[in-house]
Order: sequence, then C-alpha cells, then structure tokens
Amino acid sequence: MPPSPQQPVGIFDSGIGGLTVLDAIRQILPHEDYIYLGDTARVPYGNRTPQTIIRYATSCARQLVARNVKTIVIACNTASAHAIDALRQTFDIPVLGVITPASQLATHTTHSGHIGVIGTRATIQSHSYERAIQTINPNTHVHSLPCPLFVPLVEEGWANSQVAQLVVQQYMEQLFNNTYEHADLIDTLILGCTHYPVLKPLIHDVLTSMHKHVALCDSGTATANQLKQQLFTSHLLNPQTSTGNANYLVTDDPELFTAIGKSFMKSPPDTATHIDIS
Ligand code: DGL
Repeated sequence: MPPSPQQPVGIFDSGIGGLTVLDAIRQILPHEDYIYLGDTARVPYGNRTPQTIIRYATSCARQLVARNVKTIVIACNTASAHAIDALRQTFDIPVLGVITPASQLATHTTHSGHIGVIGTRATIQSHSYERAIQTINPNTHVHSLPCPLFVPLVEEGWANSQVAQLVVQQYMEQLFNNTYEHADLIDTLILGCTHYPVLKPLIHDVLTSMHKHVALCDSGTATANQLKQQLFTSHLLNPQTSTGNANYLVTDDPELFTAIGKSFMKSPPDTATHIDIS
C-alpha cells in the first residue's frame, strides 16, 4: 500500500546527536509526527567498518518501517555516508540522508570554491562529501579532516569548556594550515556530524581568533528543507494543523538518553522507550 500523509516520519541516528537534526526538522515541519530511534547501545558508529555501519543502519531502518513510517531520514552522517544506497535498495519508502543537503548548502555558500568538511573517521574515509560536492560542482576543492574528539566532548556536556576550546583550536589549525592544499582558501565549513552543531559557537570563535571568516554549514536545516520538498512533491505532507508529536526509542538506557539530551538540547525529550534491536 502506498504511504499516507498521516503516517509518521522515521528518523534514526547512532545515538543522541541526531536530535540536533530532528530539532531543525521540527522547526520547518511542525505538523508532522515523528518516531526517533537512537541506537545508543551501539554508538559510536564513527569508528566502525562500512559493513558494520550498513548492518546497524539496516536494523534501525527496519525498526522504523515496522512502525509504519512514511519516509526515513538518516540523521547520522556516518550512516548516511555508508548505508544510504543499501537502505534505498532494501526498503521501498523514500530514504533521505544528510550528506547531499549539506553539500548543496555548502556549494551554494562558497565564493572561493574551497570547502572544508569535518566529521567522524568513517565519514571522512568514505569520501561521500567529496563525491556529493563534486557532483554538484566539479570545480570545487574539498579539504577534509576527521575530528574524533568532538563527539565525546559534546556527550560529556563539555562543549563550553577550556578543554573543548583547545581541541577545537588544534583541529582548526590542522585543517586551515595545510597550505600545500591551499586550505587557507576555505571559506565554508561543513559540520559533517550530528554533534558538531553544539560546538558551532566555539568553532566560530576559534576561527574568528584565527582571522578566518568562514560560513559554518550544518545539515539539520538543509535536510529539513529537502524533506519538506520531498513530502510536498509526493503529496505526503501531514494535513493536521496542531503540532505533531515525537516518540523516542533507544536501544540502551532511556534515562541516560534524556539526561544527556538535557545537556545540549533546547527542548530535549522527556521520556524515551527502550527497544531491543538485536
Ligand atoms: N551520529 C554520528 C555522525 O553524525 C556521530 C556519532 C557516532 O560516531 O556514532 O556521524
């Protein structure tokens, strides 16, 4: 049976970080109902092999499909980078990732034609952002750097600490001082990981102190706009006029999920339900 507008939107992430993407989506599509699945038992995905990421992402998507969602959003950059093709082949509902929307935004933003991308090791090693950006504009130069320390800093609630400041500074110097690649020309930086928007003010301050004027692109709003377009085109926008609801599923401790959520979300989830995915 074809999906109907009243069905919820399914969104999944390796854990809690995808709430930054859900937040952006709910601002642009407030009348949709959502089921968010955080695979907190198996987070992080960012250091895993492509095969494992595909297996994990497929099992998350299967849980959402079983709950009758009309479309799936992969909020996780790592899962989007490695698993989107597999999910599109496996499931017969639309699957939207975050790589293409963020790449489109960055490609339209840059003036110098030099875009920086930061993300997990697995995201950077996949070269997905390079491929997406160069498909949109082959003349664009992409400078990538994995920043694996950012996720634990955010999850510890240390985004505003001195430690975070030092770590951000170290990574930004590494990215921008790679003069061999003309990285000094970067004028647009993709925050290619669910957790990095939480560090956005700090990244901005560090870059300003380095005299770099760089536009910071995160995938949340770009993905939300693309989802709206996709639902509109397929006549699947929910017609309800009241604010939609969001249900949260996690594969590990629900209380830890809501507690960490409070450390970095404006409107964190109050409750979450545990599901067994194995
Ligand atoms: N959600 C992941 C991403 O956006 C970050 C956390 C992880 O490594 O699983 O890449």
